[in-house]
Amino acid sequence: MSQSALQPSSKKASSDFDQQDWASAYCNVQEELTNKELIPQKGSIPTELSGTIYRNGPGRLERNGHWVHHPFDGDGMITALEFNNGQATLSNRFVRTKAWQEEEEAGRFLYRGVFGSMKPGGPIANIFDLRLKNIANTNVVRLGGQLLALWEASNPHSLDPKSLETLGVSTLNGVLKTDEAFSAHPRFDPGHHKTPRMVTFGVKTGPKSTIRLMEFATEGPHAGELINERKDNFNGFAFLHDFAITPNWAIFLQNSLDFNPLPFVLGQKGAAQCLSSSKNSQGKFLLIPRQNGDFAGEPPRIFEAPNGFVFHHLNAWEEEGSVFVDSIFYDSFPSISPKDNFRAIDFELLPEGLLTRCEINLSKGEVSTSNLSQQCCEFATVNPSKLGLKSSYAWMAIAERSHGNGPLQAIKKLNLTNKDEKIWSAAPRGFVSEPLLLPKPNSESEDDGWINIFVWNGARKATDMVLLNAKDLSEEAIIELPLSVPHGLHGCWASTN
Ligand code: CO
Repeated sequence: MSQSALQPSSKKASSDFDQQDWASAYCNVQEELTNKELIPQKGSIPTELSGTIYRNGPGRLERNGHWVHHPFDGDGMITALEFNNGQATLSNRFVRTKAWQEEEEAGRFLYRGVFGSMKPGGPIANIFDLRLKNIANTNVVRLGGQLLALWEASNPHSLDPKSLETLGVSTLNGVLKTDEAFSAHPRFDPGHHKTPRMVTFGVKTGPKSTIRLMEFATEGPHAGELINERKDNFNGFAFLHDFAITPNWAIFLQNSLDFNPLPFVLGQKGAAQCLSSSKNSQGKFLLIPRQNGDFAGEPPRIFEAPNGFVFHHLNAWEEEGSVFVDSIFYDSFPSISPKDNFRAIDFELLPEGLLTRCEINLSKGEVSTSNLSQQCCEFATVNPSKLGLKSSYAWMAIAERSHGNGPLQAIKKLNLTNKDEKIWSAAPRGFVSEPLLLPKPNSESEDDGWINIFVWNGARKATDMVLLNAKDLSEEAIIELPLSVPHGLHGCWASTN
């Protein structure tokens, strides 16, 4: 690789990166590929790997010279990498949302974005326009035979798993009302109650918030059908991006936030820009009993959470009367000012995300916390077979520097028992995405498999696909993709083994 952004592991941490390299990933995706055959520049694709990696993220960030205010307002674009018998092919498609199609036709933005993107024309053009643009850009998951592009404030879009063609907005066979919120963070229960399930939720926010918890079958003749659901009301505004599950509980962290919608209504700010960390209230853990667990039908239990703000959880499990939840805590909600240019953000000024363990003692009603790592991280995962159960290892994207915030440039494997860590780094010119764990078929050990990442290669201004051995993070294969994929959000591995 003549223009390699990639360096071998165990490189000493530093904060040497070029902001231009990082920011260059915020570009429009210019083409849509179909089953493009790929040849590794390094290593080879293991022949045991059979299935498809799906990733979602913002792919359209500019129209007619007008840029989104925040990349989270970019239209969803799905990238699919199919592995079969040592071969790899690449396809990508924009999700044909209603707004995407209208804006394609018009050649300009017609909608505001939740993260502050405005229609051209200033506040006058935006005032009282409270329409939400379902941009389908946050996650992509398989539910039975369906492929769903998710955006938490509205219904999923259903896609053809093979061609990635958009089939339309889905109510999941009438389970959802039109425009009903549906989380972008379903959790896949590997079989806590015999059969595997997709557990997810929708939240309706206001002075009181309602959480609708839903469990869907993922296998067999009833795949995709709703198995059970419940609805619970909670006091206060609830911004819930993610949650965690155990066999008995669905666990939410209700961040302590204030929401002042006035600047949104007046066309000055996006809805998410009206959120700020609250100085007057405490965050809460909301534990909702699952319908097939030991506490089915009982009311939720509420516990005070530590100070800070959480987007994402790693995992949760139960042990001796306690529920343990590992989450990525920030000091405060990282607000997005209308004046900020997202390409020029100063990482030094942002709070870092730290992996933190909370033990919720159910009988004593107490919560105790401990830190699992001091290094800024995001997008943490365990082996899918350990979802909701105690796991030995976690993999996550981390900043290259050992302390403070920074762009995500490396992958860490953390031993959750003895805190041993292994690091693979793409610094100084590479920037990593969410690591996906691809378990080896019939594997016995949690770390028997591969880690897949997309790396933005600042030298090539394009994306490299990197496959690491999950055990020691050694490089198994690197493919320089013929595509430039902006920094993405979430995705999944759909095995055909
Ligand atoms: Co997320």
